[in-house]
Amino acid sequence: MTTLGILGVGDLTEKMVRGLVRSGQLVASAIHLSPRNGKKADALAREYGCVVHSSNQAVVDAADVLLVGVRPAQLEGLANELVLRAGQPLVSVAAGVTVKQLASLFGEREISRAMVSYASEINQSTVAVFPGESGAEQVLSTLGTLVRLKTERDFELATIGACFNGWVYFLIDEMQQWLAEKGLPREAARQLVQSSVADAAAYSRFRAETSVGDLGISIATPGTYTASGLEVLRQRGGPEAWLAACESVFKQLDILEAR
Ligand SMILES: NC(=O)c1ccc[n+]([C@@H]2O[C@H](COP(=O)([O-])OP(=O)(O)OC[C@H]3O[C@@H](n4cnc5c(N)ncnc54)[C@H](OP(=O)(O)O)[C@@H]3O)[C@@H](O)[C@H]2O)c1
Repeated sequence: MTTLGILGVGDLTEKMVRGLVRSGQLVASAIHLSPRNGKKADALAREYGCVVHSSNQAVVDAADVLLVGVRPAQLEGLANELVLRAGQPLVSVAAGVTVKQLASLFGEREISRAMVSYASEINQSTVAVFPGESGAEQVLSTLGTLVRLKTERDFELATIGACFNGWVYFLIDEMQQWLAEKGLPREAARQLVQSSVADAAAYSRFRAETSVGDLGISIATPGTYTASGLEVLRQRGGPEAWLAACESVFKQLDILEAR
């Protein structure tokens, strides 16, 4: 069985570990954790039996495949303290750091990038990977729906998809707060909004042959309350604001990639 070494146990990789154990793809004793930020690593050791090592190098030495989960600015410090085995594969979840940049930090080897969300914890994340068909796919695919990207530019676009996932939480929150302020019990407001988002995603998936825009048009027919609210959203620049956010993040990723 593959052993996985996690360098940087933080908010995201903690959830990935939970999803990996939950899926049964890896037994907990095959998951080796770096010691820094010990609270999270210790909790995973206590709850599941993952192995926490006393140094990052010990994690490298114990693992077949490495998963790098530190923040982009922390990569150089991490790379400087490690000696990886020749050919040891590495997967990075660091946003905006290219395969070329990773190779210059960690040395030439099989390097993959992955973009996942917190729903990794329940094996329902979007799992964007670049390059496609890397050795890490088998492990990562257990965290949700695998989307293979052919180019690194496509992968950066998938990163914006991951940001969109985060923005949806705020949209849900605003909507449920508004309903609650108008008097709906908080729990009912939360359930209604969560269910509305899941319902639209599920139905548009079911009607795969119809564009999502056409489905919207079929719902917001003239004279409906949906159409009247949509008009206000458009007048106030709602769609433009979302697109401007996408363009802004894409520009930042493009600048990083060009370095
Ligand atoms: N969170 C998300 O939803 C999300 C989504 C997509 C991609 N990402 C990417 O995932 C990565 C992690 O994000 P995060 O939100 O999980 O950040 P985080 O919670 O700060 O996790 C990073 C972890 O790595 C540890 N660390 C830093 N340097 C280390 C070193 N040299 N050796 C061992 N451990 C080290 C940090 O410890 P300290 O706290 O002590 O520094 C922290 O526990 C980032 O690169 C980000 O771009 C995150």
